[in-house]
Amino acid sequence: MKNRADESEIVVGLDIGTTKVSAVVGEVDSDGITVLGVGNVPCRGLRKGVVSNIEWTVRSISDAIESAQTMAGVEIRTVYASIGGSHTRCIASDGVAAVSGGEVGRVDVERVLEGARAIPVDADRQILHVLPREFTVDNQDGIRDPVGMSGVRLGVKVNLVTAATSCVQNVVRTAERCGLTVADVVLGSLASAEAVLSEDEKEIGVAVVDMGGGTTDLILYVDGGIAHASVIPAGGMNVTADVAAGLRTPIGEAERLKRNYGCALGRMVGEEEEIEVPGVGGHLPRRVPRRVLSDIIEPRVEEIFAVVRKRIEDTGLLEQLSAGVVVTGGGVLLEGMMEFAEEILGMPVRLGVPVGVKGISQLVQGPQFATGVGLVQFGAKALTQARERSVGPAELIRSVRPRVVEDDLAVSEEIQKKKPGRFWNWLRAAF
Ligand SMILES: Nc1ncnc2c1ncn2[C@@H]1O[C@H](COP(=O)(O)OP(=O)(O)OP(=O)(O)O)[C@@H](O)[C@H]1O
Ligand SMILES: [Mg+2]
Repeated sequence: MKNRADESEIVVGLDIGTTKVSAVVGEVDSDGITVLGVGNVPCRGLRKGVVSNIEWTVRSISDAIESAQTMAGVEIRTVYASIGGSHTRCIASDGVAAVSGGEVGRVDVERVLEGARAIPVDADRQILHVLPREFTVDNQDGIRDPVGMSGVRLGVKVNLVTAATSCVQNVVRTAERCGLTVADVVLGSLASAEAVLSEDEKEIGVAVVDMGGGTTDLILYVDGGIAHASVIPAGGMNVTADVAAGLRTPIGEAERLKRNYGCALGRMVGEEEEIEVPGVGGHLPRRVPRRVLSDIIEPRVEEIFAVVRKRIEDTGLLEQLSAGVVVTGGGVLLEGMMEFAEEILGMPVRLGVPVGVKGISQLVQGPQFATGVGLVQFGAKALTQARERSVGPAELIRSVRPRVVEDDLAVSEEIQKKKPGRFWNWLRAAF
């Protein structure tokens, strides 16, 4: 096996999700990213996007890395790892710096970004990303890249992504236990957006909704920059749990029924269709109208997208999302999802799958691979920027860790315990 990881052209994304770990191996050259290998393994070591069982997570990461490196024919040493969960926050900040020499250089940009991140952060939190929204040079605002512009005063508006240090450390430790070095820990939804969005969409305003197993992540782009990121602590696993409880069938069977026969919109299902539901605890299988399955699924999906809609409205940015909504993550693979999401959100909705990679890209075509592919794209960008500045990518992005005052962009646990309303009592009585 060749060891190409040290040459820095191999970039590996490690998506540590609530239901699965995906390792995506990309080769980065001047032509872009070529996917060389993928490893995808179920994982039960997380709860709602946060590592809760290190042993189980270590096992899944090792298996995923093993399959990915066998397929790619490279040894994997360094990864860009995802992080998710309700502890992640996105807060606004800004900075100002004097321009040295009358023309804005890279050093001035770095200095003003350092200033923007130098605000207090709680002792148990750290800054993951500093995401510039716009620069100003003297009195001119709305500047995307100020390098080369003349002026004396450089300003910047940024969004800072922060996370609980213990959760970040658990991601790093888990990967290290598998013999890996973590080049950077990246907000999962940021990686997903990187994989599924076009530059045009970011420019004219767009929302990305990544519905995974444990969480549904929302991220908004306005004028080319990130304007909001938050996490809703519910996803596909809640839908499956509702099906298991509603149809009184084991979780594994509920997952299978959901994937094979589930539909997000009850009215799309014919009245006459039937499915066979295996019993639990020795009970015989039963034949049930397929409509019953979708009537269990629909309220949960409706609930999650209603929260998404409210979150978007609360940001005051609804009118600026001219490109509508891009939904991604494995949870949106349910039949009827696009139609229903469009109905609830009142905006055009499209399915987001990873784009912009070559090679065996068909293996990462599903929305559940958005984060894994996005991590490779994030790593490739970091590599390019680091080359330009002749420093290691980790040094470039990794942070001094000042403290930040939190605002309330993060998410309440409002819907975690909610049961589907409609048909619930009827179903309990019927089975
Ligand atoms: N064909 C399908 N139909 C319906 N749902 C599906 C299908 N395939 C996967 N899912 C659902 O997608 C969810 C997993 O999605 P994904 O792989 O994006 O989550 P994750 O990254 O592991 O979790 P998270 O992002 O919440 O930490 C599961 O709840 C699963 O039931
Ligand atoms: Mg995910």
